[in-house]
Amino acid sequence: QKHLLGIEPLHPEEIRTVLDLADQYVDFNRGSSKHADTLAGLTQINMFFENSTRTQASFELAGKRLGADVMNMAMQASSIKKGETLIDTALTLNAMHPDLLVVRHPHSGAVDLLAQKVNCAVLNAGDGRHEHPTQALLDALTIRRAKGQLHRLNIAICGDIAHSRVARSNILLLGKMENRIRLVGPPTLMPARIDEFGVEVYDDMREGLRDVDVVMMLRLQRERMDGGFIPSEREYYHRFGLDADKLSVAKPDAIVMHPGPMNRGVEIDGEIADDITRSVIQEQVEMGVAVRMAAMDLLARNLRAKLDEGRYA
Ligand code: CP
Repeated sequence: QKHLLGIEPLHPEEIRTVLDLADQYVDFNRGSSKHADTLAGLTQINMFFENSTRTQASFELAGKRLGADVMNMAMQASSIKKGETLIDTALTLNAMHPDLLVVRHPHSGAVDLLAQKVNCAVLNAGDGRHEHPTQALLDALTIRRAKGQLHRLNIAICGDIAHSRVARSNILLLGKMENRIRLVGPPTLMPARIDEFGVEVYDDMREGLRDVDVVMMLRLQRERMDGGFIPSEREYYHRFGLDADKLSVAKPDAIVMHPGPMNRGVEIDGEIADDITRSVIQEQVEMGVAVRMAAMDLLARNLRAKLDEGRYA
C-alpha cells in the first residue's frame, strides 16, 4: 500500500504483517535504547485539525524513535485560520517534500481527498466518523497479545457506535479476522444500514456482554452529534455504563478495552478501568506507539523502493 487511509482496503495478511512487525517494536520500545535509523533522512509532518493526546503523541514518538525528522504543524496557528483550504494547505506542505503526512481531520473523507493531492505517503489519524485505522490495528495487537489469538473471539463493541470511527475500523478489522462482533448500545446511537456490517445488535448490556471474550467501550462523541439525541449522563451510565455487575456476565477472563479519551462514570466505572486484572487500556496506549512505528516503517520501505526506482509520483 502507498498510504494507510483505512482498514477497508487491507487484506488479512497485510494486517498480520503490521501486527508481527509491531510486536518487534514493542520489545524495542521496552529496551534500554529507543533509537533506530529506519526512517533516517525522511521527513514526517503531523497535521492534526482535531484534538488528540494518544494518537498525536504516539505518532510523534514513533517517528522520532525511528530517526525521522518530525514536524508537528500547529493547525490552530496555521493559515487555515486565514481561510486557506485543506487542499491548498496540503499542496503547500507537499512542495516542501515531506515523505510521511499524518493527518487527523473532523470531516469523513478529508484525508482520502488530501492523499490524492500529495506525492508522499499519507496516514489517516482519524477522519470524522469514517476510519481510524491505526487505532483498530493497535486494538487488534492488544487483543492478540492478551488472548493469544485474533480469530473466533466474541467481541462486544459498546456505546456510541454511530459517531465512532474507532468502531467502524474495528468492525472492519475484527470481521476480516473472522471474529463474532456484537454492537451494544442505544438504538439511537447505532449507525444506519447496520445490516451491512454482519454483526449482532443489542440494546441491553447484560444480553450483549454474555460470554464475550472482549469488551470494548466507547465514549459518547458529543462533538459529532449535530444537535440530535444526547442522552443524560446519569441515565446513560445506568443503562450502558460498564460496571462490575454488567461485566460479571462476560467470560471470567474477558478483557476490558477503551480507546480513550475515557469519561469515568459515564461509559465506564473508574474502578473497572483501573483494574489491571481485566483492563488493558494502558496496554492499548503502549501498542499504539509500536503499531505506528510498524505502519510508518512498512510505508517507508515502499516509498524508498519507489524513490530508488525514480518513479514516485
Ligand atoms: N484514541 C484516540 O484517538 O485518542 P486521541 O483522541 O487522544 O488521539
